[in-house]
Amino acid sequence: MAVTAVVGLQWGDEAKGKIVDLLTDRHDVVVRYLGGNNAGHTVVIRGEKYKLSLLPAGVLRPEVTSVIAAGVVLNPGALLGEMDAITKRGIPISQNLLLSDRAHVIFPWHRAEEAMLEKKRGDDAIGTTMRGIGPCYRDKAGRTHAIRVGDLVRPDVFRKRVHEVAEHKNAKQSALDPGSTLTDPEAVLAEYGRYAERLKPHVVDTTAWLHKALRDKRNILFEGAQGSLLDVDHGTFPYVTSSNSSGCGIHAGSGVPERAIEKMIGVVKAYTTRVGGGPCPTELHDAIGQHIRDEGHEYGTVTGRPRRCGWFDAVAASYGARISGIDCLAVMLLDVLSKLDTLQICEAYEIDGERTKEFPSHITDLAKAQPVYRTLPGWKTDISGLKKIADFPKQARAYLDTISELLEHRVEIVSIGPDREQTVFVK
Ligand code: IMP
Repeated sequence: MAVTAVVGLQWGDEAKGKIVDLLTDRHDVVVRYLGGNNAGHTVVIRGEKYKLSLLPAGVLRPEVTSVIAAGVVLNPGALLGEMDAITKRGIPISQNLLLSDRAHVIFPWHRAEEAMLEKKRGDDAIGTTMRGIGPCYRDKAGRTHAIRVGDLVRPDVFRKRVHEVAEHKNAKQSALDPGSTLTDPEAVLAEYGRYAERLKPHVVDTTAWLHKALRDKRNILFEGAQGSLLDVDHGTFPYVTSSNSSGCGIHAGSGVPERAIEKMIGVVKAYTTRVGGGPCPTELHDAIGQHIRDEGHEYGTVTGRPRRCGWFDAVAASYGARISGIDCLAVMLLDVLSKLDTLQICEAYEIDGERTKEFPSHITDLAKAQPVYRTLPGWKTDISGLKKIADFPKQARAYLDTISELLEHRVEIVSIGPDREQTVFVK
């Protein structure tokens, strides 16, 4: 395991954090390369629950270097809040956390802009996490009103940039939302100045640092956030996040070429969940959907929103697997399905009477997709304490084999509970 990546193949929340945490002790470096504090993952170690959002799961092990790379959009107050919470629980954070000077900074105007735009969309709202992620990425792509971490830690540059950008943002906000509270640039400078002081010791050129780590043959783990179907270019646009959250984003977000990755692990839940708006063909609006939500504790880590739940969608997940270029699969939360009599896996869609296994590129077609299901028997027994795949009930193995067949990759890891110990390596 020299250079490994862990990416979600669905709409996020695939429990990637657990896999990352498990693999962390075989790696020297863990890299977060996209998204911001919209992501959330829970890691359970010896019964202790840690909720992380911006911090890579590697921070729970002080011997590992955690890198927040160039493609991340950073809310510095949120990052410091997480760092303080972890430190309070006895896990020190020092030079083992590196922060890219190329990462972009989220400001109060980004959150104000997002609240205004989402409200204006009414029923068509994307259902974002309201963390200012999209507007910050928009400014990055637009360039003229973006501020990076490298600017934040240079007081003179930062002062000039905040005044320029705040003037523009205030003019725009007054026009679009008359009477709303405008940004006081001096207040931003005071608040962010304090953040900069504390973060400065962690700020480096992470791209150059990672290239040296590659030359030194250090073991590097890339930790994906969100999932492949939320990818801004290849996902269910516009109901996506604003970055390349499939495997496509690793190269862009970290500066490490794709070909350096030796193993790409695609993570799926044993069923489907989605938060926010946008079509989800296998969503269940019935008692089974609620049962999955309850058994899987399917409520957002960041926003607390109930997640939409449904059967495993192999059309969607195999598309995620193809665009991410995976080598093998990790199937998570299999234990959640243990009480159900029969299970369904969507193996094709019917769109306007035509059967297809291709994932539609336009959401109007996805919204029309009727799932074609393969029915499988449930195993109706508690599997959460099993240690070997050979001990799994034959129905559970058949379920995993079906996912493997439809996604055309081996299942190498199966998770049957939140704890590290509740993981079965198939090899
Ligand atoms: P944003 O990333 O806050 O702009 O939200 C855009 C869409 O991505 C919304 O549907 C969110 O619910 C979804 N989203 C963002 N981050 C996550 C995540 O970590 N898990 C699941 N969905 C997410």
